[in-house]
Amino acid sequence: MARWSGGFRCLLLLVAIAFIYTQVRLFKAQSEYADKIAVAVEGENHCTSQMRFLIDEISMQKQKVVVLEEKVRRQEEECEQLRTLVQNLEKKGVKSLFEQVKAPVAAVVIMACNRADYLERTINSIFKYHSTVASKFPVFVSQDGSNSDVRTKAMSYDQLTYMQHLDYEPVDTERPGELIAYYKIARHYKWALDQLFYKHNFNRVIILEDDMEISPDFFDYFEAGADLLDKDKSIMAISSWNDNGQKQFVHDPYALYRSDFFPGLGWMLSKPTWDELSPKWPKAYPFINSYFQFSCRQFIRPEISRTYNFGEHGSSLGQFFNQYLKPIRLNDVTIDWKKMNLTYLMEDKYVNHFANMVKDAKPLYEPNLVLKINNVDGDVRIQYRDQTDFEDIARQFGIFEEWKDGIPRTAYKGVVVFRYKTIRRIFLCNMILKKLI
Ligand SMILES: *[C@@H]1O[C@H](CO)[C@@H](O)[C@H](O)[C@H]1NC(C)=O
Repeated sequence: MARWSGGFRCLLLLVAIAFIYTQVRLFKAQSEYADKIAVAVEGENHCTSQMRFLIDEISMQKQKVVVLEEKVRRQEEECEQLRTLVQNLEKKGVKSLFEQVKAPVAAVVIMACNRADYLERTINSIFKYHSTVASKFPVFVSQDGSNSDVRTKAMSYDQLTYMQHLDYEPVDTERPGELIAYYKIARHYKWALDQLFYKHNFNRVIILEDDMEISPDFFDYFEAGADLLDKDKSIMAISSWNDNGQKQFVHDPYALYRSDFFPGLGWMLSKPTWDELSPKWPKAYPFINSYFQFSCRQFIRPEISRTYNFGEHGSSLGQFFNQYLKPIRLNDVTIDWKKMNLTYLMEDKYVNHFANMVKDAKPLYEPNLVLKINNVDGDVRIQYRDQTDFEDIARQFGIFEEWKDGIPRTAYKGVVVFRYKTIRRIFLCNMILKKLI
């Protein structure tokens, strides 16, 4: 019994030892697993944060891609805009090149001497309407003499070309009492026109003086006039002036006429005409009618003037200025003259055109013309016998009485036409000429 119990104890001990050993191994294995799990959990955590980081990274990249795509789109748009701009510029460039190649319509020359303040007013009036047609109408100031204010003023504009005529040749007047100034003016005109036609080679020149303002349609009017000058060689010059253009005698801004009388004060002539005039240019008084009449050609003039002469000072006749120049109406209507059909002004058409107007007018006889006219509707024609008779009738209505070289101012084949009391036309017809009716 004791031996069994001793053996039993031994066995128990062994079992206990085995148990403990197993427990220890188990514990060890468990803690090893725990460690591994911890590592695995840690690994997983790491993985998760890595993944999060990657997701963040990806979404950031995606945003960047969106931003870049937006940039690309914008740049494409800009590219497109630039392409259109370049195309437009190319077109304009070609056009302006083309315009440069096209010869100008006419040089515009302002004849100046010693009135800087007047010159400034004239230049400013021209540049008011000039910017859109600058390449067609290059502007020149031609100064006679050495007045430094005029020179400085003219040179202060870079849109124009300054020319100076210095002429120290003494003047020999041909008749006693003649003014040296008229000889000087004649020389200056010849010099300036020779410069513009022969040195600068312009086809046409528009001549202005330093005391003029222009109308809004001035350049369009002369551009259409250039076309007429080219087509009809019987036109000597295009004028922007109507001697009987005072407010009370004009009505229609579209009306143009032919005239045998040189109106001056804003006129355009062409090179072939200057080729004829230049060698015969008189020493003085170039603007008298007999000089321009040697070829029996005519002038185009508007009913409403396209230039206004404000030169009160310097004109020797103050009374003349107040009566005839100051009340002139300057056209204020914009007219696209190039769209107008001006064929009626051509020599072969105009005689009939004008004769029909005269024929349609009702005849009226002296005395008391001004009173009688109020009882007549529409246009009226009045015949005059001679210069004295004409002057008498002209005085009653208040138009120019003056004749030069057998021609009343503004006359066409002896007929002077003006408006009287708004739209009614009065034709003063030379009874003897009777060419028209
Ligand atoms: C222009 O007017 C003339 C008559 O003066 C006429 O014969 C011609 O057909 C007109 N031209 C146009 C394009 O209207």
